[in-house]
Amino acid sequence: MIDFSRVLAMAKEERYALLPVLIRHELQAEPNRLANLSNIAAILYHGMGDVSWAGFYLFDGSDLVLGPFQGRPACTRISTDAGICGRSYTKNDTVIIQNVHEDPDHIACDARTNAEIVHPVRLKNGQKGVIDIDSLQVNRFTAADAALLQAVGHLLETMAD
Ligand code: SME
Repeated sequence: MIDFSRVLAMAKEERYALLPVLIRHELQAEPNRLANLSNIAAILYHGMGDVSWAGFYLFDGSDLVLGPFQGRPACTRISTDAGICGRSYTKNDTVIIQNVHEDPDHIACDARTNAEIVHPVRLKNGQKGVIDIDSLQVNRFTAADAALLQAVGHLLETMAD
C-alpha cells in the first residue's frame, strides 16, 4: 500500500501526476465498482492536499445519490437541477467554485466548506454521476485540479464497471 504521508510530501505537480497512476492500478487490480469508487475517493481525499471532502454522487434515474466518499457525512440526495453537483451533471462540464458563499446554488453539506470542484463522470457500464471535491481553503481549485479530475473521469469511463 502507498504511504500517503510521502505522497503529500511530494511537489504538487509530481503528486497530481501520480494520483491517476495509482487509480489506474486500482482499476486494473479489482473489478468491483463499489470497491474501486471507495478507494478512488480515498486516493483523492488523501492525495490532493487541502481537501475536506472527496466522493461521488451517482444518478439513480431521478436524482444524484451519495456514493463512496471520504470526509464528514454529507447530503444523500441532490436533484439534478440543484447545487453545484447538479450544475456540473446537467452541463456535463467541470465546475470550479472559488468561494461557495458567493454562489446561491451551492448546497452546504458542511458549513466549513469554502471552495468546491465538481466533474461529471460516466462509468464504463454507462452509470453517470459526478466527482465532488470540497476544501476549506478559498480559491483552492485550479486548472490542475480540473485536469486531474478529467484524467480520473477518463479512467472511470474506460475501466470502471
Ligand atoms: N456542495 C454540493 C453538495 C454536496 S457536498 O459538497 C458533499 C453542491 O452544491 O452540489
